[in-house]
Amino acid sequence: MEHGFPERDRLDAEAIRRALEDHPWRDLVQVLPVTDSTNNALKLLAAGGALEGTTLIAERQTAGRGRLDRRFDSPAGSGIYLSVLLRPACPPAELMTLTAQAAAAVRRAVGEVCGVLPGIKWVNDLQLNGKKICGILTELSFGAGGLVASAVVGIGVNCNRAAEDFPAELQGIAGSILSETGRRVDRNRLAAAMLRELSSLPRLDWREEYRGACVNLGRRVRILSPGAADCPEGVAEDVGPDAELLVRTDGGQLIAVAAGEVSLRDADAGQLTVDN
Ligand code: BTN
Repeated sequence: MEHGFPERDRLDAEAIRRALEDHPWRDLVQVLPVTDSTNNALKLLAAGGALEGTTLIAERQTAGRGRLDRRFDSPAGSGIYLSVLLRPACPPAELMTLTAQAAAAVRRAVGEVCGVLPGIKWVNDLQLNGKKICGILTELSFGAGGLVASAVVGIGVNCNRAAEDFPAELQGIAGSILSETGRRVDRNRLAAAMLRELSSLPRLDWREEYRGACVNLGRRVRILSPGAADCPEGVAEDVGPDAELLVRTDGGQLIAVAAGEVSLRDADAGQLTVDN
């Protein structure tokens, strides 16, 4: 119990490599006991020329980050805080769907290892029973000709955290696979399954799967654009080819909401207005 949680539950690079068998990324995986943010650490490695597939997984993060500069709570012993480096060498416009595709990939991995398929809350969250169990933060850097030199895909999964261990402000909003299914997760197996699924991107068939899993479709949403004066409301009707959410406003107009532009909240969710 050196780390305050049972030894058998430790994240272990060897166990992840074993589960990856002869996968080309198997020797590119490192487990860190602690770091500020695996995305920050991996961006430094990327700038130094690290290979596609280089992966950092931390037992704990001291400054885990989410979209819109939110903090991602990252305690030891219960989560997977994983960043993987992709080197797509394409114009950024071709990566519009990367975060959505990563969400679908992690969902598949959870299904495979944990026997439960989470819903996807557009665009980058996975949910079980309406509680957030995973968030994804993709960060790009650019090289010659404006092409993408690196895409760091950072994924935080709440695996084995008890409901009562979430901080007060996340109670009722965030959950873990354990808290929502009653089953403990083998984090090493899940991390390996996530990497396998992520290495198979991009997939041409992502959109059907994403639509089927997207919990927003058919529900009322409020569109919150940072800095915008009004917050239009409407019903989320579909997910577009660039992973944009297509929302029918109350005025009858169809708006395409691009990933990263806005936050969406259930318009009638009362208390549930904190988006973690
Ligand atoms: C979000 O909820 O908006 C995204 C959360 C992303 C969290 C992961 S944990 C691993 C990686 N390192 C970070 O600092 N953030 C991502």
